[in-house]
Amino acid sequence: NSKTQEETDMHVAIDGPSGAGKSTVARRLARELGCVYMDTGAMYRAVGLLAHRLGVDDRDDEALSRMLDAGVEIRAALAPEGQRTLLNGEDVEDQIRTQEIGMAASNVAACPSVRRALVAMQRQAAQGCDVVMDGRDIGTNVLPRAEHKFFLTASPRVRAQRRCDELRARGQAAEFDQILREVQERDEQDMNRKESPLVRAADAVEVRTDDLGIDEVVQVLLALMGRA
Ligand code: DC
Repeated sequence: NSKTQEETDMHVAIDGPSGAGKSTVARRLARELGCVYMDTGAMYRAVGLLAHRLGVDDRDDEALSRMLDAGVEIRAALAPEGQRTLLNGEDVEDQIRTQEIGMAASNVAACPSVRRALVAMQRQAAQGCDVVMDGRDIGTNVLPRAEHKFFLTASPRVRAQRRCDELRARGQAAEFDQILREVQERDEQDMNRKESPLVRAADAVEVRTDDLGIDEVVQVLLALMGRA
């Protein structure tokens, strides 16, 4: 058998803008397939949170690089009660899910040293295991040889509404017009940065989720994978 380890692992890459339904879909898909689920956005959020706490400028690549060099351990684990993100062992799942930390995440994600460090952790984690990974650059950069690549999209209004619902479900205040502006600002920044911008990989299948519920999207992806 001449196949390398990388070729025998099942890697599923799910990319797209915020609010397209990536993480919910990816988590369900991972369960259906018996794979590990990895939320790479949570890792950028954890770095954003750490910078925020330490008063490090989240756009200063050198300062962020020093912060990471000092030793940071990030784990995005799926516990039975749901996703937990651990920053140096501390559960920061709730703290990283605010709009403010979402923006900090988008800022740190534009910095080359942060991307280098997190991409290395993500590739390492995917090695030797079947994984569904969601993010912005999974199909293009983290796992370019992934067996299945999907690019989920939805209109900005639909995505903003989903964000609002998600924040309210977490007991946070959410105002639609403001969320819509933030969604657009974050897309703009994620799509136009120099380092690994959000872009559909040439071999990724685009799925528009505007009119589809979570179950329907999962069924579409399973069908596209030949697993329905
Ligand atoms: O998916 P999310 O909203 O949790 O992601 C938070 C931010 O991190 C988002 O603005 C884009 C960035 N990100 C990235 O640049 N690359 C990834 N693989 C995942 C997230």
